[in-house]
Amino acid sequence: MILPILMIWIIQGELVFGQGFNLSFGSCLHQEKELALLSKAADQLPNAFVFLGDNIYADTYDSMRINKAYQALACNLNFQTLKRSVPLYATWDDHDYGMDDVGKYYPLKEASKRMFTSFFQPPNPVQLLSHEGIYQSYRFRYRGKKIQLILLDTRTFRSSLKRINKPSEETDTYYPYERLYLPVYTEDSTMLGEGQWAWLAEQIRVKSAVTIIASSTQFATEYNGYETWANFPLEQERMAQLIESMHKEHVVFISGDVHYAELSKVCNAAYPLYDLTSSGISESWGFAAPNVHREEGPVMENNFGVLRIRPWRNELTFLIYTQQGLRLQRTISLDELEFK
Ligand SMILES: [Fe+2]
Repeated sequence: MILPILMIWIIQGELVFGQGFNLSFGSCLHQEKELALLSKAADQLPNAFVFLGDNIYADTYDSMRINKAYQALACNLNFQTLKRSVPLYATWDDHDYGMDDVGKYYPLKEASKRMFTSFFQPPNPVQLLSHEGIYQSYRFRYRGKKIQLILLDTRTFRSSLKRINKPSEETDTYYPYERLYLPVYTEDSTMLGEGQWAWLAEQIRVKSAVTIIASSTQFATEYNGYETWANFPLEQERMAQLIESMHKEHVVFISGDVHYAELSKVCNAAYPLYDLTSSGISESWGFAAPNVHREEGPVMENNFGVLRIRPWRNELTFLIYTQQGLRLQRTISLDELEFK
Protein backbone atom coordinates (compact mmCIF):
# COMPACT_ATOMS: atom_id res chain seq x y z
CA MET A 1 0.00 0.00 0.00
CA ILE A 2 2.87 2.33 0.81
CA LEU A 3 4.40 1.99 -2.68
CA PRO A 4 1.35 3.30 -4.67
CA ILE A 5 0.90 6.18 -2.19
CA LEU A 6 4.58 6.99 -2.51
CA MET A 7 4.33 6.87 -6.31
CA ILE A 8 1.26 9.15 -6.35
CA TRP A 9 3.08 11.53 -4.03
CA ILE A 10 6.14 11.55 -6.30
CA ILE A 11 4.05 12.08 -9.45
CA GLN A 12 2.02 14.86 -7.85
CA GLY A 13 5.20 16.34 -6.42
CA GLU A 14 6.76 16.45 -9.89
CA LEU A 15 3.59 18.03 -11.32
CA VAL A 16 3.58 20.81 -8.75
CA PHE A 17 7.33 21.15 -8.33
CA GLY A 18 7.99 20.69 -12.05
CA GLN A 19 5.95 23.71 -13.05
CA GLY A 20 8.64 26.25 -12.26
CA PHE A 21 8.21 30.01 -12.09
CA ASN A 22 5.86 31.04 -14.87
CA LEU A 23 5.68 34.60 -16.09
CA SER A 24 2.86 35.00 -18.62
CA PHE A 25 2.50 37.99 -20.87
CA GLY A 26 0.67 39.40 -23.85
CA SER A 27 -0.07 42.60 -25.73
CA CYS A 28 -2.38 44.24 -28.24
CA LEU A 29 -5.89 43.72 -26.91
CA HIS A 30 -8.83 45.75 -28.04
CA GLN A 31 -11.11 46.71 -25.15
CA GLU A 32 -14.26 46.07 -27.22
CA LYS A 33 -13.34 42.48 -28.14
CA GLU A 34 -13.92 39.24 -26.27
CA LEU A 35 -10.30 38.61 -25.12
CA ALA A 36 -10.88 34.90 -24.39
CA LEU A 37 -7.12 34.30 -24.27
CA LEU A 38 -6.96 36.21 -20.98
CA SER A 39 -9.08 33.52 -19.31
CA LYS A 40 -6.95 30.83 -20.91
CA ALA A 41 -3.83 32.48 -19.49
CA ALA A 42 -5.55 32.70 -16.09
CA ASP A 43 -6.35 28.95 -16.18
CA GLN A 44 -2.64 28.18 -16.06
CA LEU A 45 -2.27 30.13 -12.81
CA PRO A 46 1.05 31.76 -13.68
CA ASN A 47 3.02 33.58 -10.98
CA ALA A 48 2.35 36.88 -12.76
CA PHE A 49 0.91 38.27 -15.99
CA VAL A 50 2.54 41.22 -17.76
CA PHE A 51 0.65 43.47 -20.16
CA LEU A 52 3.24 44.63 -22.66
CA GLY A 53 1.35 47.51 -24.22
CA ASP A 54 -1.51 48.32 -26.55
CA ASN A 55 -3.49 47.20 -23.53
CA ILE A 56 -6.28 49.36 -24.90
CA TYR A 57 -6.64 51.06 -28.29
CA ALA A 58 -7.28 54.71 -27.46
CA ASP A 59 -5.70 56.48 -30.47
CA THR A 60 -6.80 59.93 -29.49
CA TYR A 61 -5.88 63.46 -28.48
CA ASP A 62 -8.84 63.49 -26.09
CA SER A 63 -8.04 62.19 -22.58
CA MET A 64 -11.69 61.28 -21.95
CA ARG A 65 -11.41 58.69 -24.67
CA ILE A 66 -8.40 57.07 -23.01
CA ASN A 67 -10.37 56.83 -19.79
CA LYS A 68 -13.41 55.41 -21.61
CA ALA A 69 -11.26 52.71 -23.23
CA TYR A 70 -9.85 51.68 -19.81
CA GLN A 71 -13.40 51.51 -18.44
CA ALA A 72 -14.42 49.22 -21.29
CA LEU A 73 -11.49 46.91 -20.47
CA ALA A 74 -12.47 46.96 -16.78
CA CYS A 75 -15.90 45.65 -17.80
CA ASN A 76 -14.48 42.81 -19.90
CA LEU A 77 -15.30 39.47 -18.23
CA ASN A 78 -12.12 37.74 -19.38
CA PHE A 79 -10.01 40.62 -18.11
CA GLN A 80 -11.83 40.39 -14.78
CA THR A 81 -11.10 36.64 -14.59
CA LEU A 82 -7.39 37.24 -15.15
CA LYS A 83 -7.32 40.11 -12.64
CA ARG A 84 -9.00 37.94 -9.98
CA SER A 85 -6.59 35.02 -10.50
CA VAL A 86 -3.13 36.45 -11.15
CA PRO A 87 -1.01 39.43 -10.04
CA LEU A 88 -0.91 41.90 -12.93
CA TYR A 89 1.98 44.09 -14.12
CA ALA A 90 1.95 46.46 -17.07
CA THR A 91 3.77 48.83 -19.31
CA TRP A 92 2.42 50.66 -22.32
CA ASP A 93 2.94 50.96 -26.06
CA ASP A 94 1.71 53.59 -28.52
CA HIS A 95 -2.04 52.92 -28.76
CA ASP A 96 -2.64 52.97 -24.99
CA TYR A 97 -0.08 55.74 -24.37
CA GLY A 98 -2.18 57.68 -26.84
CA MET A 99 -1.63 57.46 -30.58
CA ASP A 100 -0.09 55.25 -33.27
CA ASP A 101 3.75 55.31 -33.22
CA VAL A 102 4.04 58.44 -31.03
CA GLY A 103 6.95 59.24 -28.71
CA LYS A 104 7.99 62.01 -26.33
CA TYR A 105 6.00 64.75 -28.09
CA TYR A 106 2.58 63.20 -27.39
CA PRO A 107 0.79 66.07 -25.60
CA LEU A 108 -1.36 64.00 -23.20
CA LYS A 109 1.43 61.93 -21.68
CA GLU A 110 0.89 63.18 -18.12
CA ALA A 111 -2.86 62.55 -18.23
CA SER A 112 -2.26 59.18 -19.87
CA LYS A 113 0.15 58.19 -17.08
CA ARG A 114 -2.47 59.09 -14.44
CA MET A 115 -5.07 56.89 -16.13
CA PHE A 116 -2.62 54.02 -16.66
CA THR A 117 -1.61 54.16 -12.98
CA SER A 118 -5.14 54.35 -11.68
CA PHE A 119 -6.26 51.47 -13.92
CA PHE A 120 -3.41 49.01 -13.33
CA GLN A 121 -2.58 50.10 -9.76
CA PRO A 122 1.07 49.01 -9.94
CA PRO A 123 2.21 47.16 -6.78
CA ASN A 124 4.71 49.92 -6.00
CA PRO A 125 3.06 53.22 -7.03
CA VAL A 126 5.77 55.26 -5.26
CA GLN A 127 8.19 54.18 -8.00
CA LEU A 128 5.94 55.78 -10.58
CA LEU A 129 5.41 58.99 -8.63
CA SER A 130 9.13 59.56 -8.26
CA HIS A 131 9.86 60.09 -11.96
CA GLU A 132 8.41 60.96 -15.34
CA GLY A 133 7.15 58.00 -17.40
CA ILE A 134 6.06 54.56 -16.21
CA TYR A 135 9.23 52.44 -16.02
CA GLN A 136 9.19 50.05 -13.04
CA SER A 137 11.13 47.16 -11.56
CA TYR A 138 10.02 44.23 -9.37
CA ARG A 139 11.60 41.23 -7.71
CA PHE A 140 10.03 37.81 -7.19
CA ARG A 141 11.43 35.16 -4.90
CA TYR A 142 11.10 31.61 -6.17
CA ARG A 143 12.63 28.62 -4.35
CA GLY A 144 15.37 30.77 -2.91
CA LYS A 145 16.16 32.51 -6.23
CA LYS A 146 15.53 36.14 -7.09
CA ILE A 147 13.79 36.80 -10.41
CA GLN A 148 13.84 40.40 -11.54
CA LEU A 149 11.25 42.00 -13.82
CA ILE A 150 12.16 45.31 -15.43
CA LEU A 151 9.34 47.11 -17.25
CA LEU A 152 10.68 49.68 -19.70
CA ASP A 153 8.84 52.75 -20.93
CA THR A 154 9.60 53.00 -24.66
CA ARG A 155 7.21 55.91 -25.31
CA THR A 156 7.55 58.82 -22.87
CA PHE A 157 11.15 59.67 -23.82
CA ARG A 158 11.46 58.21 -27.32
CA SER A 159 12.84 60.55 -29.99
CA SER A 160 10.98 61.10 -33.23
CA LEU A 161 11.22 58.37 -35.82
CA LYS A 162 12.75 59.03 -39.22
CA ARG A 163 9.83 58.70 -41.57
CA ILE A 164 10.19 57.57 -45.17
CA ASN A 165 8.22 60.26 -46.93
CA LYS A 166 8.14 58.84 -50.38
CA PRO A 167 7.73 55.11 -50.83
CA SER A 168 10.44 53.63 -53.02
CA GLU A 169 9.38 52.99 -56.57
CA GLU A 170 11.73 50.05 -56.86
CA THR A 171 10.27 46.75 -55.79
CA ASP A 172 12.27 45.30 -52.96
CA THR A 173 11.71 41.58 -52.63
CA TYR A 174 13.21 41.63 -49.12
CA TYR A 175 10.50 44.06 -47.95
CA PRO A 176 7.39 43.19 -49.97
CA TYR A 177 5.43 45.93 -48.18
CA GLU A 178 5.67 49.66 -47.64
CA ARG A 179 8.29 50.48 -45.02
CA LEU A 180 7.55 53.50 -42.80
CA TYR A 181 10.84 54.31 -41.03
CA LEU A 182 14.60 54.41 -41.49
CA PRO A 183 17.21 53.81 -38.76
CA VAL A 184 18.39 56.93 -36.93
CA TYR A 185 22.10 57.20 -36.13
CA THR A 186 22.28 60.61 -34.44
CA GLU A 187 23.95 60.41 -31.03
CA ASP A 188 21.15 62.12 -29.09
CA SER A 189 18.32 60.02 -30.53
CA THR A 190 16.95 57.82 -27.81
CA MET A 191 14.47 55.07 -26.96
CA LEU A 192 14.68 55.44 -23.18
CA GLY A 193 16.07 58.89 -22.37
CA GLU A 194 18.98 59.59 -20.01
CA GLY A 195 16.95 59.34 -16.79
CA GLN A 196 15.62 55.91 -17.63
CA TRP A 197 19.06 54.70 -18.79
CA ALA A 198 20.57 55.78 -15.45
CA TRP A 199 17.77 54.01 -13.57
CA LEU A 200 18.23 50.90 -15.72
CA ALA A 201 21.95 50.80 -14.89
CA GLU A 202 20.99 50.79 -11.18
CA GLN A 203 18.57 47.92 -11.78
CA ILE A 204 21.13 45.92 -13.74
CA ARG A 205 23.46 46.24 -10.74
CA VAL A 206 20.95 44.37 -8.52
CA LYS A 207 21.80 40.68 -8.02
CA SER A 208 19.29 38.21 -9.46
CA ALA A 209 19.15 34.64 -10.78
CA VAL A 210 17.27 35.73 -13.92
CA THR A 211 16.39 39.21 -15.19
CA ILE A 212 13.47 39.73 -17.56
CA ILE A 213 13.47 43.03 -19.44
CA ALA A 214 10.03 43.86 -20.81
CA SER A 215 9.92 46.22 -23.78
CA SER A 216 6.72 47.08 -25.63
CA THR A 217 8.52 47.10 -29.00
CA GLN A 218 10.77 44.27 -30.20
CA PHE A 219 14.37 44.42 -29.01
CA ALA A 220 16.20 41.65 -30.89
CA THR A 221 14.76 41.79 -34.40
CA GLU A 222 16.55 43.22 -37.41
CA TYR A 223 15.52 46.50 -39.02
CA ASN A 224 12.28 46.04 -40.97
CA GLY A 225 10.89 49.52 -41.63
CA TYR A 226 8.32 49.31 -38.82
CA GLU A 227 8.74 50.21 -35.16
CA THR A 228 11.49 48.24 -33.37
CA TRP A 229 14.61 49.02 -31.35
CA ALA A 230 16.46 48.54 -34.65
CA ASN A 231 15.32 52.05 -35.66
CA PHE A 232 17.78 53.25 -32.99
CA PRO A 233 20.80 50.99 -33.54
CA LEU A 234 22.97 53.00 -31.11
CA GLU A 235 20.42 52.42 -28.34
CA GLN A 236 20.26 48.70 -29.14
CA GLU A 237 24.05 48.62 -28.85
CA ARG A 238 23.96 50.64 -25.63
CA MET A 239 21.72 47.99 -24.05
CA ALA A 240 24.12 45.20 -25.02
CA GLN A 241 27.05 47.24 -23.69
CA LEU A 242 25.28 47.96 -20.41
CA ILE A 243 24.65 44.25 -19.82
CA GLU A 244 28.24 43.49 -20.72
CA SER A 245 29.86 46.28 -18.70
CA MET A 246 27.86 45.34 -15.59
CA HIS A 247 28.71 41.70 -16.16
CA LYS A 248 25.02 40.90 -15.82
CA GLU A 249 24.20 37.28 -16.66
CA HIS A 250 20.86 35.56 -17.36
CA VAL A 251 19.07 38.50 -19.01
CA VAL A 252 16.17 37.82 -21.40
CA PHE A 253 13.77 40.15 -23.17
CA ILE A 254 10.02 39.95 -23.74
CA SER A 255 8.18 42.19 -26.18
CA GLY A 256 4.89 42.75 -28.01
CA ASP A 257 3.55 45.22 -30.61
CA VAL A 258 3.63 43.34 -33.92
CA HIS A 259 0.47 41.16 -33.79
CA TYR A 260 2.28 37.83 -34.09
CA ALA A 261 4.66 35.80 -31.96
CA GLU A 262 8.28 34.84 -32.53
CA LEU A 263 11.50 34.10 -30.69
CA SER A 264 14.48 36.24 -31.76
CA LYS A 265 18.13 36.06 -30.78
CA VAL A 266 20.97 38.56 -31.32
CA CYS A 267 24.59 37.80 -30.70
CA ASN A 268 26.06 41.32 -30.41
CA ALA A 269 26.65 40.99 -26.66
CA ALA A 270 28.95 38.68 -24.69
CA TYR A 271 26.21 36.07 -24.69
CA PRO A 272 23.06 35.67 -26.87
CA LEU A 273 20.18 38.02 -26.10
CA TYR A 274 16.83 36.30 -26.59
CA ASP A 275 13.59 38.20 -27.11
CA LEU A 276 10.28 36.35 -26.92
CA THR A 277 7.60 38.41 -28.66
CA SER A 278 3.96 37.73 -27.93
CA SER A 279 1.49 40.00 -29.58
CA GLY A 280 -2.13 39.87 -30.47
CA ILE A 281 -4.35 38.88 -27.54
CA SER A 282 -7.06 40.07 -29.92
CA GLU A 283 -5.29 41.83 -32.83
CA SER A 284 -3.71 40.18 -35.87
CA TRP A 285 -1.57 41.05 -38.89
CA GLY A 286 -1.36 39.52 -42.35
CA PHE A 287 2.38 38.74 -42.52
CA ALA A 288 5.56 38.63 -40.46
CA ALA A 289 8.29 41.16 -41.35
CA PRO A 290 11.70 39.72 -42.33
CA ASN A 291 13.78 38.87 -39.27
CA VAL A 292 17.13 37.19 -39.72
CA HIS A 293 17.30 36.84 -35.92
CA ARG A 294 14.14 34.72 -35.80
CA GLU A 295 14.78 31.42 -34.02
CA GLU A 296 11.19 30.18 -33.73
CA GLY A 297 7.88 31.19 -35.23
CA PRO A 298 6.23 33.25 -36.47
CA VAL A 299 2.91 32.28 -34.90
CA MET A 300 0.28 34.37 -36.66
CA GLU A 301 -2.76 33.41 -34.54
CA ASN A 302 -3.78 35.36 -31.44
CA ASN A 303 -1.47 34.31 -28.62
CA PHE A 304 0.06 34.85 -25.21
CA GLY A 305 3.57 33.98 -24.06
CA VAL A 306 5.10 32.30 -21.03
CA LEU A 307 8.65 32.35 -19.69
CA ARG A 308 9.16 29.28 -17.50
CA ILE A 309 12.14 29.24 -15.20
CA ARG A 310 13.21 26.00 -13.54
CA PRO A 311 16.21 26.86 -11.40
CA TRP A 312 16.76 23.27 -10.20
CA ARG A 313 17.27 22.25 -13.84
CA ASN A 314 19.16 25.45 -14.62
CA GLU A 315 16.84 26.05 -17.56
CA LEU A 316 14.51 28.55 -19.10
CA THR A 317 11.68 27.73 -21.52
CA PHE A 318 10.05 30.08 -24.04
CA LEU A 319 6.40 29.19 -24.75
CA ILE A 320 3.65 30.60 -26.94
CA TYR A 321 0.01 29.52 -26.55
CA THR A 322 -2.94 30.14 -28.85
CA GLN A 323 -6.60 29.19 -28.32
CA GLN A 324 -5.69 25.79 -29.80
CA GLY A 325 -2.89 25.16 -27.31
CA LEU A 326 0.91 25.21 -27.22
CA ARG A 327 2.37 26.52 -30.50
CA LEU A 328 6.00 27.36 -29.79
CA GLN A 329 8.43 25.89 -27.30
CA ARG A 330 12.18 26.28 -26.88
CA THR A 331 14.19 25.38 -23.80
CA ILE A 332 17.67 26.74 -23.21
CA SER A 333 20.18 26.16 -20.45
CA LEU A 334 20.86 29.21 -18.31
CA ASP A 335 24.55 28.44 -18.98
CA GLU A 336 23.97 29.86 -22.47
CA LEU A 337 23.27 33.27 -20.89
CA GLU A 338 26.66 33.52 -19.17
CA PHE A 339 30.02 35.15 -19.93
CA LYS A 340 32.50 32.64 -21.24
FE1 LIG B 1 -0.84 46.73 -31.31
